[in-house]
Amino acid sequence: MRFLTLPLVFLYILRWAVAKPRILPSLLHEKRNHVPPGWSHSGRHHAMAVLPLRFALSQRNIHTIEHYINDVAHPASPNYGNHWTATQVAEKFTPSHDTIETVKTWLSDNGFGWDRIRVTNLQGWIELNATVQEAEKLLWAEYHVYKHASGKEHISCESYHIPPHVAPHIDFVTPTVHFDVIVSRSPEASHRKIGASGTPINTNMQGRSFNGPKTTGSNSETFNQLDDCDQLITPLCLRALYGLGYKPRATSNNSFAIAEFTPGAYVPSDLDNFGKAYAPDIVGKRPKLVSIDGGTVQAALTGFDYNGESNLDLQYGMALVTGAQNVTLYQLGDSIQHASDNNLLNAFDSSYCGFDGGDDPNIDGIYPDQAPGGYKGKEDCGTVKPANVISISYYYNEADLTPAYTARQCVEFAKLGLMGITVLFASGDNGVAGLINACLNPDGSQSANGRLFNPSFPGTCPYVTSVGATQVNVNSTVYQPESACEQLISSGFLYSGGGFSNHFSIPDYQKDAVQNYLKNYLTPGLPLSYNSTGSRAHPDLSANGAKYAISLQGNFTRVYGTSASTPVVGAILTLINDARLLAGKKPIGFINPAIYSPSFSDAFHDVTNGTNPGCGTLGFNAAKGWDPVTGLGTPNFPKLVEKWLALP
Ligand SMILES: *[C@@H]1O[C@H](CO)[C@@H](O)[C@H](O)[C@H]1NC(C)=O
Ligand SMILES: *[C@@H]1O[C@H](CO)[C@@H](O)[C@H](O)[C@H]1NC(C)=O
Ligand SMILES: *[C@@H]1O[C@H](CO)[C@@H](O)[C@H](O)[C@H]1NC(C)=O
Ligand SMILES: *[C@@H]1O[C@H](CO)[C@@H](O)[C@H](O)[C@H]1NC(C)=O
Ligand SMILES: *[C@@H]1O[C@H](CO)[C@@H](O)[C@H](O)[C@H]1NC(C)=O
Ligand SMILES: *[C@@H]1O[C@H](CO)[C@@H](O)[C@H](O)[C@H]1NC(C)=O
Ligand SMILES: *[C@@H]1O[C@H](CO)[C@@H](O)[C@H](O)[C@H]1NC(C)=O
Repeated sequence: MRFLTLPLVFLYILRWAVAKPRILPSLLHEKRNHVPPGWSHSGRHHAMAVLPLRFALSQRNIHTIEHYINDVAHPASPNYGNHWTATQVAEKFTPSHDTIETVKTWLSDNGFGWDRIRVTNLQGWIELNATVQEAEKLLWAEYHVYKHASGKEHISCESYHIPPHVAPHIDFVTPTVHFDVIVSRSPEASHRKIGASGTPINTNMQGRSFNGPKTTGSNSETFNQLDDCDQLITPLCLRALYGLGYKPRATSNNSFAIAEFTPGAYVPSDLDNFGKAYAPDIVGKRPKLVSIDGGTVQAALTGFDYNGESNLDLQYGMALVTGAQNVTLYQLGDSIQHASDNNLLNAFDSSYCGFDGGDDPNIDGIYPDQAPGGYKGKEDCGTVKPANVISISYYYNEADLTPAYTARQCVEFAKLGLMGITVLFASGDNGVAGLINACLNPDGSQSANGRLFNPSFPGTCPYVTSVGATQVNVNSTVYQPESACEQLISSGFLYSGGGFSNHFSIPDYQKDAVQNYLKNYLTPGLPLSYNSTGSRAHPDLSANGAKYAISLQGNFTRVYGTSASTPVVGAILTLINDARLLAGKKPIGFINPAIYSPSFSDAFHDVTNGTNPGCGTLGFNAAKGWDPVTGLGTPNFPKLVEKWLALP
């Protein structure tokens, strides 16, 4: 939302009336309504301090990206599967000459000499060192210093303004309103940028020990894992639930990657323990490590918080694609600064990287890292060829980020879709609430007593596939319908994340499905706590997320959450890609336009029982067809293969 702030407008006109008679008043560009929890105001910033101002330039043709995506990803399109090369993508969207000149001219008209203005090599970003005084005048902003309980300081303004003829050429400016979204998770790490990667779901992925796999021991043991899937999920349970008997054969041409954020790390011996119990063909196998921005599989910090997520993702991801398919591990960031989704996107796309993409030093890892012990190498920039399917079990609350930041990153996911890459994100583990059960207040702040639903990001980006969680009901078998995941674990209840975005409007592909839900199945009496303006709804689909057996530091533990569901869906889609590659076809790429299309309507096990409570409500209810708890349902692998083999 943009509006005029009158006193500033008035001053602006006075100041420039003589020099530039035709100049229009500056418009509000971005605004923050509150200071995030944990931070307090400590005073005005020093007028002569220097700020490294960075202007993110708008990209060309961005408003038509949905059209391009549908052209390659909609099953009715004659160009289905004709994915773009990275070069085609870069050429289509690089900022125009006009954009660069308009912004440079505006800066120079405001007294910044050409020698102070730098356009980055890929022409997408303008940099300028300005004193606080200069920046305040340019942006009609006031810079303040904020302090975090941890002692960390942050420079920020509450809003900033850009003249109307320049505004369409700038996505956002840093440092301005954006805040460090970092939440520390463990006491010994409280002074670090923990969580810069998006807070891992493993804060909720509560472990519970049990007495190890019952399948070990003598061959005469008659215990049947399939009888026990309501108590313990193993790869065998998942194969039975989703119809996975497929043996991949196009493995040398296929790829599947799982992203982890340092200091999160998998434990190799746990992978073997898990393999011995549940997946003998992966014993001795390791993921192919692709280190991004100094990422290492560190072994100094151990325990559930460090190893739980990575162990889960790799044990299940690798088991389900079988030992025949290699799995890639994107290990991101050093142990000091960590990394974010943007660091991964930079590694894929040198043009994003070149203009630092949506990079914001308050959210993303910036390399080389000057801190002692930090990664001193260059930032990975277009160095990694993305895998066909990428699974990411980490997320933010959408409200932790500004709309400008999420918009810019979401476009980058769309570009991956254009290139034929499937990107999966966990939908969240707190139902309609956000991380640590925070809900939104009317001013956009988050608190435990907030009443408005708090969706997650990137799941709400219309160009990723968001994965929710289901469960096998107690005393049910894998042959009976699953319900939405509703589990009491030691940190509280775990419910499948889902709902409606506050940043993104609804994409065409899901309009009918969402309309059907709102018209016929919306929980009667549910307060209007969600964004009901017609915005992007998620999750898109789901998979089991309850009671997974994982090996952790030599012991077996049960874990829960959409963290578990996401790599499972990733593995299933990887097997579908295998079938398509064998048939001489392209990978499935961005799947949403296909899975919501009528021809796929019987390709999911519809989940119609359960809810996703939060924010003092019962949340949404699962229902026939798509719903904001379990999406379209869980994968029916044989049907999905059949549908996707029928497409060009
Ligand atoms: C801003 O200042 C820093 C530190 O002095 C310098 O490294 C950088 O090149 C400067 N940037 C511009 C655009 O002048
Ligand atoms: C991999 O792709 C190449 C080139 O398209 C093809 O010749 C080869 O048969 C494929 N291999 C497998 C195992 O599908
Ligand atoms: C899988 O990785 C191993 C170890 O790097 C390699 O020897 C093998 O050729 C790879 N297999 C395929 C199908 O790419
Ligand atoms: C499951 O079955 C057991 C044994 O029949 C019974 O004691 C228990 O109450 C059942 N639990 C539920 C949730 O139905
Ligand atoms: C609801 O979502 C739309 C995007 O579709 C957004 O423009 C609007 O600001 C959101 N409303 C609230 C209250 O956040
Ligand atoms: C594994 O479990 C045993 C028995 O509960 C416990 O004594 C041991 O400390 C656990 N090991 C680790 C590394 O947690
Ligand atoms: C619905 O889910 C609840 C648990 O969340 C379960 O107790 C109940 O049996 C389920 N009902 C059906 C019809 O599956």
